[in-house]
Amino acid sequence: GWRTACLYRYKGFWCQSKEIEAIISFEKHFQPIDTDVILASIPKSGTTWLKALSFAIVNRKKFAISSDGHPLLASNPHDLVPFFEYKLYAEKQVPDLSKLPDPRLFATHIPFAALQDSVKNSGCRIIYICRNPFDTFISSWTFSNKLRSETAPPLLLEQTFKKYCEGVVGFGPFWDHMLGYWKESLERPDKVLFLKYEDLKEDATFYLKKIAKFLGCPFSMEEEKEGVVEKIASLCSFEKMKDLEVNKSGRSIKNFENKNLFRKAEVGDWVNYLSPSMVKQLSQLTEEKLGGSGIEFKVLP
Ligand code: PPS
Repeated sequence: GWRTACLYRYKGFWCQSKEIEAIISFEKHFQPIDTDVILASIPKSGTTWLKALSFAIVNRKKFAISSDGHPLLASNPHDLVPFFEYKLYAEKQVPDLSKLPDPRLFATHIPFAALQDSVKNSGCRIIYICRNPFDTFISSWTFSNKLRSETAPPLLLEQTFKKYCEGVVGFGPFWDHMLGYWKESLERPDKVLFLKYEDLKEDATFYLKKIAKFLGCPFSMEEEKEGVVEKIASLCSFEKMKDLEVNKSGRSIKNFENKNLFRKAEVGDWVNYLSPSMVKQLSQLTEEKLGGSGIEFKVLP
């Protein structure tokens, strides 16, 4: 069918029925361990990139960054760092995760408030990435349109924008999503590392070091001298990743081709789409919701 997937309200956020089923199974069956790392985000805010970076950092002893056999050259990051709700718990069969190598890397779009206490209270660490609402919205709208069948009428910008502003978007409202992780990162900086897409674009190596330190595997002086940090940044760069065969022709999550995950990767592409009145409305809304929180976004290059 080509209808827009219906969104339901579950634990205060919006998602599809299939996702709710998987999330319920995740809540019931997942057993966190203290060394787990969970990458969290609202869709289209840099998840794929964060997965690649974290995978490369954590496994750099096992897989040398400049080796031809690096898994990131042959696999999409979504296969290397699976989502709880799309991969691991999306099937009837509950996965056995007990044999995965340590540390286990997972990902989710679930808001912090909706995570089960076992996850919140365990020693597992969370890295959160978010992106300014203008670019996240455009990335999400263009992505949703690519997923539609050719016979389906496109999702109109105006209508999709209106819903977004009402908070009706997968795993939204947008602002609540980031506020949840933001507050936790202030209270428990050892538990949650809060990152912004625009910052990573500006200075990937700085944030790579920050991530490595947060995960308890900081780069040694020697590694820094050898340029390992820069090599990871370049291995995971948009330009490098989008041209890999696996990302041009492969499929890692059922409904879509990997190539749809790589579009423009720019800060400020929204200027090509949003009308002045939309910009005004979304700016006001963001000021209302995030003003005073300390979260600020760069919205232009
Ligand atoms: S998803 O479906 O939620 O996992 O999508 P997500 O990865 O969060 O967001 C997709 C946007 O991220 C851009 N992208 C990247 N930026 C920088 N570096 C790398 N390696 C990278 N890979 C993907 C992608 O192009 C989407 O942004 P837009 O603005 O649509 O181009």
